[in-house]
Amino acid sequence: MLCAEKKHGWISTPVKFLFRAKFSRKQKKALASMFQAVAYVSRGLFRSYAGLSVRMNSTGIDQKGVLANRVAVVTGATDGIGFAIARRLAQDGAHVVVSSRKQHNVDRAVAALQGEGLSVTGTVCHVGKAEDRERLVATILDVNVKSPALLLSQLLPHMENRGMGAVILVSSIAAYIPHVELGPYNVSKTALLGLTRTLSLELAPKGIRVNCLVPGIIKTNFSKVLHMNEVFWNNFKEKYHLQRLGQPEDCAGLVSFLCSPDASYINGENIVVAGFSPQL
Ligand SMILES: NC(=O)c1ccc[n+]([C@@H]2O[C@H](COP(=O)([O-])OP(=O)(O)OC[C@H]3O[C@@H](n4cnc5c(N)ncnc54)[C@H](OP(=O)(O)O)[C@@H]3O)[C@@H](O)[C@H]2O)c1
Repeated sequence: MLCAEKKHGWISTPVKFLFRAKFSRKQKKALASMFQAVAYVSRGLFRSYAGLSVRMNSTGIDQKGVLANRVAVVTGATDGIGFAIARRLAQDGAHVVVSSRKQHNVDRAVAALQGEGLSVTGTVCHVGKAEDRERLVATILDVNVKSPALLLSQLLPHMENRGMGAVILVSSIAAYIPHVELGPYNVSKTALLGLTRTLSLELAPKGIRVNCLVPGIIKTNFSKVLHMNEVFWNNFKEKYHLQRLGQPEDCAGLVSFLCSPDASYINGENIVVAGFSPQL
């Protein structure tokens, strides 16, 4: 996930499934619309989103909270962990731009969050179609590692202009405890730990912090295959002394904290949210 801040604005975008290596014209347009939103905020124009290519407008409510007057751009935000993060950042006062591959999911998420009185808009960020099986490995690495790096390279100039920022990548407990059948996924998520550390050093002089959320097993559609597999789940629970299944909201609070000024002295950390420590 990624955030940028100066006096007026935060950009915040979880870079989990994120973008493919190559951006189509449509993808670039989606990114451009995110940048426009950020530019608006940096000029303090929360009131009007006219001219933005987002589908639904802000509720225009007054923003209060630790992230007031910041904009959060959350990708992969229409379900699961990303959705919980979007909701939490909005509850903490940010204006949130949610995005995912499918317009109907974006519309549903925006409507749900606006229905809660939150300041939210949405835009589609399609990261491309699935490749054939032979290209599966390359695709996972592209989507999980290369794409966040590419996305960052496009967003960083905007953060640099603001002189401060925060990036939050989303890895996985699989980086510490590899699933035997998920080799490429394990490798991609492990690479994100390294990307976090490297970027945190490289970007520190620009005032940009880079940290990483490392979720354990969190109850979402994505992880159904694990937590609904009784044998796997019971073994896992027993082995790691887990008391319960994680919820997306367990991740959202950490992300909001890492975006906030309270975390301004935290940089280069991979933080596990799993109900246990894989390092014990
Ligand atoms: N749940 C877990 O137990 C767990 C554990 C460790 C790590 N994680 C990591 O946490 C992240 C989120 O997982 P989740 O469990 O919240 O998944 P989820 O419930 O399936 O939600 C995924 C979200 O991302 C969007 N999305 C999927 N592929 C995308 C793509 N290529 N480009 C843009 N948006 C995309 C989906 O919407 P659309 O379909 O509309 O695009 C949806 O909003 C992933 O990086 C995953 O590896 C999850």
